[in-house]
Amino acid sequence: MSSDKPLVLIVDDNPTNIDLLVNTLKEEYRLGVAKDGLKALEYTDKYLPDLILLDVMMPEMSGYDVCVKLKAVPRTANIPVVFITALDNIEDKTHGFQAGGVDYITKPFHVAEVKARVKTHLSLKRMREELNDQNIILEQKVAEKTNELHQMLQATIHTMALTVEIRDPYTAGHQHRVALLACAIAKKMNLSSKQIRTIDIAGNLHDIGKIRIPTSIINRPGELLDIEYKMLKIHARVGYDILKNIPSPLPFAKAVLQHHERLDGSGYPQGITSDEILPEAKVVTVADVTEALSSFRPYRPAMGIDVALEEILKYKGVWYDPDAVDACRELFIKENFNYTKPSN
Ligand SMILES: [Fe+2]
Ligand SMILES: [Fe+2]
Repeated sequence: MSSDKPLVLIVDDNPTNIDLLVNTLKEEYRLGVAKDGLKALEYTDKYLPDLILLDVMMPEMSGYDVCVKLKAVPRTANIPVVFITALDNIEDKTHGFQAGGVDYITKPFHVAEVKARVKTHLSLKRMREELNDQNIILEQKVAEKTNELHQMLQATIHTMALTVEIRDPYTAGHQHRVALLACAIAKKMNLSSKQIRTIDIAGNLHDIGKIRIPTSIINRPGELLDIEYKMLKIHARVGYDILKNIPSPLPFAKAVLQHHERLDGSGYPQGITSDEILPEAKVVTVADVTEALSSFRPYRPAMGIDVALEEILKYKGVWYDPDAVDACRELFIKENFNYTKPSN
């Protein structure tokens, strides 16, 4: 008997019915036989039939009860159950469907009808399984494509970040370090994975708008003149304008726009206050200030991390988000954070 033939389990307490069903189906299917409900359940524990022909009226456990038990177990829940019964009223049929049966064959049954119903339900089951397999394949393809898009986005972000840093050697690596620190802060604050992805992108690109600022201003040693400082400030909005049309569910463009805003409204470019600033932007701001103050700039020497941590503490809750400040200080003071290792 070929093992690729479907396996049909016949459950009936009447030997004559069993013989009749076996003779009807043995040419086309592999067959299992159980003479009562308990034996049927024992059989399905060991084997996985493709279809079950289930007598309704059996001693001890009725076919309905057997069916309910089969449907309650994920392993056997999808096996089509066709009831075989002498009962022919509507209530009994409804009861069978409620128990999870897919069809009825009424005794005395005809060979051709049994064959036709078994064949139909087996092909329906096969089609369901094929559809399910297709869905799994489609889901895998979607996951692969999503991953590809993610990689492309990462490469694009990296390239864009490099573009601005090439013109601005003093801040080269600044955006990457801000992104690393901001993500570590966000994780410490238990922000969602979507927020952390937003922060990662926004951190890596937050100063991209500096591409519009003349290099003579960006790289000039000494304090900036008022007019130069005003010019420099446009980088937040320019960054937003560059990024806003990238189709993405993540609000990284808006976080870039807001990375110089302060809780009390004294920041730029919009002067918005705490409630209006994205949590993602608040985190990038703290990481940006901390990294920038502790590094060298053309207009001043590096102040060091201790000065940077003092500065964010001084303005905690006034300019900077208190939770982000606490998380940032804890990272450096207690966990010895450095920019080379990804935090966990
Ligand atoms: Fe900036
Ligand atoms: Fe920055």
